[in-house]
Amino acid sequence: MKIAVLVSGSGTNLQTLIEQLHKDETSGIEIAVVISDRQQAYALTRAKRAGIPTQIVRTQDFENRIAYDAEISRQIENYSVELIVLAGFMKLFQPPLVRKYRNRIINVHPSLLPAFPGATPVADSLAYGVKVAGVTVHFVDEDVDTGPIIAQTVVPVYDTDDEESLHKRIQIEEHKLYPKVIKSYAQGKLKVEGRKVIKITSET
Ligand code: GAR
Repeated sequence: MKIAVLVSGSGTNLQTLIEQLHKDETSGIEIAVVISDRQQAYALTRAKRAGIPTQIVRTQDFENRIAYDAEISRQIENYSVELIVLAGFMKLFQPPLVRKYRNRIINVHPSLLPAFPGATPVADSLAYGVKVAGVTVHFVDEDVDTGPIIAQTVVPVYDTDDEESLHKRIQIEEHKLYPKVIKSYAQGKLKVEGRKVIKITSET
């Protein structure tokens, strides 16, 4: 199955997807393209090092967000991608693109949704004083971080934590959870029923 990974930053999640899926021929998953909205994203260097095609699609080069999304869609079709994987991609899509790829766009978010959606979830979790934080992998719908939840992992919060230390602990779990979810998707094991995502096991 061909996937596209969309990035904006460092790309540590991309790196684990390269190691655990793309380079493992038994996974049946190929990262066909890495798309970034930022030319300086270090994730692009990681993709190039692995020989994966890269595309830069910047919002400022388009008249509006519908035209921006149309270019993303054109790239997705061009590379025959079946699943769009957001990995630290910090742009929101407009409803038409979400509808076109319903249940074919997934995102990893560093909080236990529905708590702390948005752009600063780790800082928000600490400011609120939560004792557990975590990771959520979910399908993308028309709103911000509200789509059906596929999987979550809980991470403890310590009194000594700052944003960096907590985010690091969360990312360790992201790197384990995201490849697993993508494998399940590729194997046709995820069934969406309304808001619920059911993992089909061999016994069911
Ligand atoms: C990850 O922690 C991811 O959960 C977060 O950005 C980071 C990207 O790191 N995504 C969001 O906050 C989405 N709302 P990476 O570039 O090293 O993979």
